[in-house]
Amino acid sequence: AHPHAVMDHAAPVAATETPALLPAGRLPAGQALLPLPRLRNEATKPGTFSGTLVAEPGSAQLTTDGPATACWRYNQSLPGPLIELEEGMEVSLTFINRLPEPSTIHWHGLPVPADQDGGPDDPVAPGGTRVYRFTLPPGSAGSYWYHPHPHQGVSGQIARGLAGAIIVRAPGDPLAALPEQHWAISDLRLDAQAQIPPHSYGDWVDGREGENVLINGQYRPALALSTTHRVRIWNMCPARYLNLSLPGCEFVPVGSDGGLLEKVLPAQAAILLAPGERMEVLVTGADGHSTLSLLPYNRHPMMSPPPQAALEIATVTYQAAPQPVSEGVALRTIAPLGEPGNLLRAVMMEKMADIMKNKGQTPPRAFLINGKSFDMARVDLTSKAGVVDRWEIINATTMDHPFHIHGGQFQVIERQYLGKKSAPACLAWKDTVNLRPGEIVRLLMRQETPGMRMYHCHIIEHEELGMMGMLKVS
Ligand code: C2O
Ligand code: CU
Ligand code: CU
Repeated sequence: AHPHAVMDHAAPVAATETPALLPAGRLPAGQALLPLPRLRNEATKPGTFSGTLVAEPGSAQLTTDGPATACWRYNQSLPGPLIELEEGMEVSLTFINRLPEPSTIHWHGLPVPADQDGGPDDPVAPGGTRVYRFTLPPGSAGSYWYHPHPHQGVSGQIARGLAGAIIVRAPGDPLAALPEQHWAISDLRLDAQAQIPPHSYGDWVDGREGENVLINGQYRPALALSTTHRVRIWNMCPARYLNLSLPGCEFVPVGSDGGLLEKVLPAQAAILLAPGERMEVLVTGADGHSTLSLLPYNRHPMMSPPPQAALEIATVTYQAAPQPVSEGVALRTIAPLGEPGNLLRAVMMEKMADIMKNKGQTPPRAFLINGKSFDMARVDLTSKAGVVDRWEIINATTMDHPFHIHGGQFQVIERQYLGKKSAPACLAWKDTVNLRPGEIVRLLMRQETPGMRMYHCHIIEHEELGMMGMLKVS
């Protein structure tokens, strides 16, 4: 329906090849990890937050010796400033769009009213200003993020640097006394001139994975980590799966997208975050030096991938201390959502034939939900505010897709993969869930307010090529 918008972002489409990339070793590595800059609260009244986010083109000196990189940023920061909020707060965020194209700000995962959620149906024109207002309900503490969501413009805007982290804090948080470390992980493709190239054909099919993985905007920083740190991790990459490992240490999951888990889960050697997901962990291990790495992850399990090495993304000096909470300790009460009153089904599909047929040309609109490509003028599913929806999500494609629903948090109740059903280890709030090829995920979600809500694959390029639908809540 909107072929031109798709073509704009793929611009020089004869280029089916990835351009020559920046050689390794050109970004300065080994600098101490810096905390994310915080967005200033301009409000003086207690219980309120008011801040301003300006999206504008600029340039950043990313390489040691090369030219500055033209990029788009919020408040001239890459990633955008961290927004720290509290449950119960009245929030007002002013967005000033100084980009040469329409944009929005979407508050990924936060339970904000549909008309404040910065969806594709509510663009802010170049030069325009928009104030988003919402109040954070009790129980909304967690790690969220914000990013642009304009119709068919998301991939280009995120690839150029627009995304930032949000933390909502709660009174009575049992881990509140722990020092925190924040790892906002993004990736960036840079060509040989250190510029961000337009998408090439393969970027659209698989989603773009930038070769330069950054933590808080830094390339291979040095982390000083201890057992007592509460580590919040964001996967802000458009398409990269983060299969994190830290040899000599293990990760103890304590939180997911929507805040603390019901209880502390057993330590694990690696943790996987699909695009859009967040996690809170403690890290256990022995004193020493190690490397935070991304282990290979095969998003196309039906194909045998070329052998891949682990990718080092940070050096770590680890200091052991007694673990502040141990496995099984209760962190929070999560009430089960209960009996569903509405059934919703979303089948993720791909038209491989179209992808092959159009190889080297305009990116095909070949990623679908329930057989359809996204259309803003069409309602795909319906629900009612206050009613529990039981979603059945089916991945009928040959690759992994992270499924995301707007409007708040859901509870995964069952997974069905390779003929086996399983339930999650404990109750948790999530807004993005990964599905392997052939996998079925059943989850419960209650939309609290009426309005239009999107659901889509969070591989940004797939969302933009049509793998998105609209839920009308009345
Ligand atoms: Cu994080 Cu609809 O997006
Ligand atoms: Cu979202
Ligand atoms: Cu996808």
